[in-house]
Amino acid sequence: MTQTTPAEICLARWARSIRTSPLQTMLTKCRPAISFALGLPGPELLPAEQLSVAAAAVLASGPGALQYGPPSEELRHQIVEIMRWRGVECKASEVFLTSGAQQGLSILAKLLIGPRGRVVCEKYVYTGFLQAIEPMMPEVHTIETDAWSGPDIDGLEALLTRVADPGFLYINATGHNPLSLTLGGEARIRLVKLSARALTIVEDDPYGLLQYEGDSAALKSASPSSIIYVGSFSKILSPALRVGWLVAPEHLHTALASIKEGSDINTGTFSQRVACRFIASGGLREHVSKLACAYRRRRDFMLDALARTLPSGSRWTTPSAGIFIWVELPEPYDAVELLDRALSEHGVAFLPGVAFCAKDSAHESARRSLRLNFSHCTEDQIEEGMRRIAVILRDW
Ligand SMILES: Cc1ncc(COP(=O)(O)O)c(C=O)c1O
Repeated sequence: MTQTTPAEICLARWARSIRTSPLQTMLTKCRPAISFALGLPGPELLPAEQLSVAAAAVLASGPGALQYGPPSEELRHQIVEIMRWRGVECKASEVFLTSGAQQGLSILAKLLIGPRGRVVCEKYVYTGFLQAIEPMMPEVHTIETDAWSGPDIDGLEALLTRVADPGFLYINATGHNPLSLTLGGEARIRLVKLSARALTIVEDDPYGLLQYEGDSAALKSASPSSIIYVGSFSKILSPALRVGWLVAPEHLHTALASIKEGSDINTGTFSQRVACRFIASGGLREHVSKLACAYRRRRDFMLDALARTLPSGSRWTTPSAGIFIWVELPEPYDAVELLDRALSEHGVAFLPGVAFCAKDSAHESARRSLRLNFSHCTEDQIEEGMRRIAVILRDW
């Protein structure tokens, strides 16, 4: 009988309970010395001082700052400008503020999929998306994808002839989590064409402003109404603020607000106003450039370490956006086993590819794949973490 490893037990439990996040708990609890596992910003890059000035100013503005209240109108206008950076022209009345992108996904799942409805996504997908749709118990239809070619659009077109009225297609076109791919022009054009033929697309874009080469506009820039955009300040300002937004047609806003109210009654106006002050000070563009510069260096550092560390026959991506690198090891390596040893013997964490498989549709290569985050660790930690992984791989 094969021995089940702690990482495997955890992953299985995670998959069974549809990722109610014990893995995050496990990773927090066992406190790996070096973590490439989660999508965390670099802690020293969080703008603590500027945010404390912004928070003090909001508090000084009177008790209303701590009261129930409507979403920040000013922030919605600021987001219109941020959307322009992503190539999207929209109105403030189309911006719907949420508690992070995650809440946006969860509200959209309730609104657009409904109980036991249908939804389409790639075979490798952001696990939080699966958590967001799970309460709807939907039929999940998947399309083939990989980190090098991206989603199979021919396969998607074929699937749409078989699957009637899916609630939406979920796509993460820029700096994909977990595959790290940014979609090329042709795939984008074909997706936009599909969206024009009555397929709603939910474009999740938390990494759109963290681009290192090129400047891909959001998918939504080409199709104003049939693509609903999900944005977030988590990766470009601070995840603790829990401020995100949707850009969605105005006629959906009453329903969006009603679903949102059912989960949190009121919106996080304090955080919204702090974000708003920060943006009003003119600091966001500069901060985003600083992050992109720092993350590009960390990406390059990790790529260099991978070239020195991984066994021949491995391949990995060079992401032009986002905060992850996707690695595929050759046979006979196994990423779950590698994680187990990395965690228990070397205090290093990452996530294995199987953690991102929608449904049980594990690819043959999933077990040999891993997602490495490069935004959270310093260069020294990246060097040391990769050195420890190299030791395990050498002794395999
Ligand atoms: C693709 C993707 N969507 C959504 C989220 C959730 O972001 P937020 O912190 O804004 O809820 C994340 C977080 O890592 C993500 O990677």
